Amino acid sequence: MRPQEVIRKKRDKGELTRAEIRAFVRGVASGAWADYQSSALLMAIYLNGMGDDERQSLAEEMLLSGEVLNFSDIAQPKVDKHSTGGVGDKTSLVIAPIVASAGCAVPMISGRGLGHTGGTLDKLEAIPGYRVNLDLSEFRAILRRIGFAMIGQTEEIAPADRKLYALRDVTATIESLPLIAASIMSKKLAEGLDGLVLDVKSGDGAFMKSKNDARQLADALVQIGTGAGVNTIALVTDMSQPLGYAVGNRLEVIECFEILRGRGPRDLTELCIELSAQMIVAGGARSACIEDARETARRKLEGGEAFEKFRESIEAQGGNRRTMDDYSLMPVAAHSEELLADEDGFIARIDAEATGRASMLLGAGRVRAEDRIDPAVGIVLNKKIGDYVEKREPLARIHYNADARLGEARKMLREAFHLAQEKPASTPLVIETLTGKN
Ligand code: URA
Repeated sequence: MRPQEVIRKKRDKGELTRAEIRAFVRGVASGAWADYQSSALLMAIYLNGMGDDERQSLAEEMLLSGEVLNFSDIAQPKVDKHSTGGVGDKTSLVIAPIVASAGCAVPMISGRGLGHTGGTLDKLEAIPGYRVNLDLSEFRAILRRIGFAMIGQTEEIAPADRKLYALRDVTATIESLPLIAASIMSKKLAEGLDGLVLDVKSGDGAFMKSKNDARQLADALVQIGTGAGVNTIALVTDMSQPLGYAVGNRLEVIECFEILRGRGPRDLTELCIELSAQMIVAGGARSACIEDARETARRKLEGGEAFEKFRESIEAQGGNRRTMDDYSLMPVAAHSEELLADEDGFIARIDAEATGRASMLLGAGRVRAEDRIDPAVGIVLNKKIGDYVEKREPLARIHYNADARLGEARKMLREAFHLAQEKPASTPLVIETLTGKN
């Protein structure tokens, strides 16, 4: 099958067959398709979209371009969560130990932060010694022993996605719903899961800015997962302000430990319980009833089991277990300063993307994939949407090491806060829940 025939068909709004999509993905992986041909097809897909069957075939063929893990020797249900990414989004570090304590196995393969969004691997690496580059046999052994293990993407998983993503990045074809959905699911379905929960963020700090776009992505992800035989649930959740109070790697890890101690912010704690409960339901471990699963997740958190489970994980992955009791063992920023309010008023909006960018300027994130990050720096908010602030009261504290870009970060953070004289209506953190049956 010649690439130009496949490209022509999609260019003319035709529907590609499974065989045509297979030829494309295999051609990308083997190099038989030239980059200009793959890019032309990506642009045709971007412009003309894909039907449900095409999208399913693309995700499954991308999955089959690499290794598919098999954990059938582990008796517990295998479940994971994937977030489409946000600012201050640190839920993985809390829900993995909760769900593992509840009798599931969580083989978590996570990413690094890029641009204004953070990444789970960078947060874990703020813990001295914690290794995220386990080989697959170590990963499997820790998963079996502790109930959860956390690593980064391996070369073997969905290699076609890596090549396609790199092409999309330089051909303005990232923002295509079928391409995004197939890309995310090709990697998640390679984890050999029984259940998967997707946290699709919506708002100015998210990939999908509008609720409608987020809902459409959530629906596509659920359809692909369900079509591949995995119990898949998606939550559309609010990212119109940073999640929790901390943004920046060490600061976010501390917030997670505080949640695991039962002392974290209420909204973030509730989101962690909801995501954990949906994972327990998706895995079918304890009960198929969401109310019971919420109760189980809350008990595991409040009873301290999840806290101890995280300590076991730190030890198993080479980290210093005392970090959970002594936060000064993680790199601490040399300086900090408060950002004070210029006027009185209610916090109406905190631009999550601007907050994430300010934190990135301090060194907490990467502009380019090869940049080194500083685990110590970041921002801790003092106020969230709906809070009242008086003039000269602190809005946030900025933690920094080098002051080269401090002025720029400070300005960006100040502009992220929008005040109003009326208290704004509150938005629920969980906007919608979609299951395979929807
Ligand atoms: N995350 C992915 O893994 N792929 C995309 O295409 C977009 C976000």
